[in-house]
Amino acid sequence: MELQASPFARFLIAFLFVVLFHQLFALDVSEHIYVSSDGYGNFKSIQEAIDSIPEGNSQWIRIHVEKGAYREKVTIPKYKEYIMLEGEGSDQTWIEYGDYANDGIHTTESSTTFSCYADNFMARDISFKNTFNGGQSMSQAVAALVAGDKSSFYRCSFFGIQDTLCDLSGRHYYKDCYIEGAIDFIFGQGQSIFERCTISTTSGVQGVGYITAHGRDSKHDWSGFVFKSCNITGSAQTYLGRPWRPYARVIFYESYMANIIAPEGWDTWQYDGWDTTFAEIKCRGPGAKRKGRVNWMKMLTDKALKHYTRTRSVSNTKMTTKDALNYLTKVRQIYQYQEGKYAEFLTLMTDFKKERIDTEGVAERVKELFKENPDLILGFNSFLPPKYEIKLDEKKNVEFKDAMKFVNKIKNRFQHDVHVYNSFLAILNNYKKDNNTIQDIYREVAVLFENHLDLLDEFAQFLPADSPVARHQHTPPAKVVHQDDDSEISLLVHLFSQTGL
Ligand SMILES: *[C@@H]1O[C@H](CO)[C@@H](O)[C@H](O)[C@H]1NC(C)=O
Ligand SMILES: *[C@@H]1O[C@H](CO)[C@@H](O)[C@H](O)[C@H]1NC(C)=O
Repeated sequence: MELQASPFARFLIAFLFVVLFHQLFALDVSEHIYVSSDGYGNFKSIQEAIDSIPEGNSQWIRIHVEKGAYREKVTIPKYKEYIMLEGEGSDQTWIEYGDYANDGIHTTESSTTFSCYADNFMARDISFKNTFNGGQSMSQAVAALVAGDKSSFYRCSFFGIQDTLCDLSGRHYYKDCYIEGAIDFIFGQGQSIFERCTISTTSGVQGVGYITAHGRDSKHDWSGFVFKSCNITGSAQTYLGRPWRPYARVIFYESYMANIIAPEGWDTWQYDGWDTTFAEIKCRGPGAKRKGRVNWMKMLTDKALKHYTRTRSVSNTKMTTKDALNYLTKVRQIYQYQEGKYAEFLTLMTDFKKERIDTEGVAERVKELFKENPDLILGFNSFLPPKYEIKLDEKKNVEFKDAMKFVNKIKNRFQHDVHVYNSFLAILNNYKKDNNTIQDIYREVAVLFENHLDLLDEFAQFLPADSPVARHQHTPPAKVVHQDDDSEISLLVHLFSQTGL
């Protein structure tokens, strides 16, 4: 499951990052501002409260908004970080406005009711609405635009029809949220995780809608949307997504899909043949049926895996022509930009035919040759007798809770010396910025934990097996090297690694 586990694991990284930072700072709110439309708070409007915060703010400030509808446009500018916006429940407190693009004044971006351009933002228990409903002449009408890094939303709702949530850029985490719309209603170039959210379609337009329009425009871009344990429901038929930009990446994971998903699942929009990554992993519900899905979707379900791993009842080391051709075509397609690989595979087959290499040898070489493509490896099993069947190495899953446990352990150990914990986070945070190597990170962490070698050992377990650190370790090599596993991503260090998604 390397293919999918790995982008997913990397998304978890963004997730951990956001949680960590909020854990660290949210406890320590330095100031509280109350907004109440009836005049009993510090301000009557949310924007006034934001205006009162100085640029360059570096302490968490909580803006508590009492129940009610706030009909205003709200913007948090780039230099007002560490704002926590809090309502009294997403059905109690909401911000609404009704601007839309193409009215001669607004663009998609400026149509938004709420926008945040600052890093380190958090919202909870509040709703964002764009009330525009153009009927036959629908237009982009954004409810919330999120453009800062490290932003999170808990128990928030987003209402609109077209382009409801503009998840423009940065690492974001949405938990227990509700997002409603009809067309491209979650779009942008964000690197975001939506966990336990309800995604709900509304019938506001003609035809089949689109939940996502992701905007990844280069294969080196970290961005992507992950929907984990979400509920995809609503009243209108929809595609799961279409690529706004050619490298769009969207993953639905362990989510429920009601009977509203167009059988094709995904649409190409204008990017026919581009390198999009659209995947559905372990989803369930009537909408999650694979029948009719576009054939370019990236998929590797348990079922597909079983299909590949199923041992042929009639074993035969000779490939049938048709099977072999199909397989070869697939290999050639996958390695169309790496001719060497394809040639190497053909050489291997020739060697086998000429009995220069035995079955076991072939199995080994195939496993090595296609190590970044588990489905090719498993597919090759169809040509092998059962006893030579290639098994993928059990992956030690990069578990969010392991990382969390480790971080909490550090926090507890140094509770009287907060400096150490903060330094640890700072080292990780600087990793991406300073373009350091894993080795540099390890060295800094080693200094920090010099009298706590158990922590250092544990930290090393999060490092990729092929990192130089695994070899240059000065502590006993605990369980550092996960054999044969070059994709083991360090949940901690790779938080900010260059490799990105
Ligand atoms: C999904 O959400 C709908 C609407 O809120 C609800 O009726 C349904 O029970 C939910 N399904 C799951 C599996 O959570
Ligand atoms: C980071 O390091 C890589 C590899 O050494 C290099 O190609 C890249 O240009 C560096 N990036 C920055 C921002 O320094």
